[in-house]
Amino acid sequence: MKKTIRLDKVLSHMGLGTRSEIKKWAKQGRITVNDRMVKDTGLQVQTEEDIILLDGERVHYREFIYLMLNKPAGVISATEDRYDQTVIDLLGDEERGFEPFPVGRLDKDTVGLLLLTNDGKLSHELLSPRKHVPKTYIANVVGDVGEYDITAFQAGVTLDDGYVTKPAALTILHHDRTGAEVISRIQLTIIEGKFHQVKRMFESVGKKVIYLQRISMGTLTLDTELAEGEYRELTAEELAGLKQERE
Ligand code: URA
Repeated sequence: MKKTIRLDKVLSHMGLGTRSEIKKWAKQGRITVNDRMVKDTGLQVQTEEDIILLDGERVHYREFIYLMLNKPAGVISATEDRYDQTVIDLLGDEERGFEPFPVGRLDKDTVGLLLLTNDGKLSHELLSPRKHVPKTYIANVVGDVGEYDITAFQAGVTLDDGYVTKPAALTILHHDRTGAEVISRIQLTIIEGKFHQVKRMFESVGKKVIYLQRISMGTLTLDTELAEGEYRELTAEELAGLKQERE
């Protein structure tokens, strides 16, 4: 059976206007479906077949959106919040019309790769604990991260709530030494996503994360051309890679 959807939903989903604006435009005769002026925006349309025009311009409907955001610090991974700016507030009207949400969470102070989509199925599968989708982070850590920590993370460390983490791959990128203080720059890949996991893993070995950036999730890698706060749609290849992740 062909899928039908309300005309006003099509136009609002594509970020063209609010339901009430669309109603007004229909009354003004600015919307046609298959060359017929439509006054009732509750009309059911078949998005693949019906030709919808607004002011003579074709409206191309698509259901899903997939965005890569380079999340800045100070913004929360939620769709709405009373106090803080959310990742959705960073988007334009067009993208917001799709009602995307973040796939998983990054802490308020964490930066880097965040996937935003309205594809609940893909999101669910990427986040499923059974899938073990790897996530890679770069971090600055107060303390001298060394071989002992690599071995501990590989074996699994015990978090503050008693949970023992799955094997994680830790690489030391370099150490900055100023006087007695050492800051270690590291890369860490984990295959699960417990609350504050990276920070808590380092706490379990007596060290503190002071900067955290996610650089990849499964096959998806943060585009270095995106400044913090910027986003773009995934390419077809990137999307295909993520979809394979769920198989
Ligand atoms: N681990 C953390 O501690 N914080 C994040 O934001 C992501 C992973």
